[in-house]
Amino acid sequence: MAIYQIVEIGADVLREKAVPVKEITPNIIKLLDNMLETLYDANGVGLAAPQVGVPKRVVVIDVGEGPIELINPVILESEGESIDDEGCLSIPGVTGQVPRAARVKIEALDRHGEKQIIEGEGLLARCIQHELDHLEGILFVDKARKTYRV
Ligand code: NI
Repeated sequence: MAIYQIVEIGADVLREKAVPVKEITPNIIKLLDNMLETLYDANGVGLAAPQVGVPKRVVVIDVGEGPIELINPVILESEGESIDDEGCLSIPGVTGQVPRAARVKIEALDRHGEKQIIEGEGLLARCIQHELDHLEGILFVDKARKTYRV
């Protein structure tokens, strides 16, 4: 396992549309393992592959309920609205108030290639939407109503 360097705002890879994973190879498994290690090392709650310089549709999340690994995630349903503070490991020292759906339902592959359905609200819903935005080259500061230096 290894800890990746986290790419910061200004890097082109954060603004690219990430490509779907066609096949879950040993390199994808290694990517997931290392992304989780990187996430925990940085005390974050979510990390998308473009943030470690890999423009693929891979995300890891842990909001304190155990690791979630998402390959080729898609939002199936979203409802409600919630505005709360958000930050990003790629934009250190900045917090912003970002409107998000309050609840989401998504579909993604796990590391075994099995389809998983995940429903979330609160921090999990916010984190899922934030990480999926990374796969489109969107950063939270693009959507924030207000940002603060912290
Ligand atoms: Ni982020």
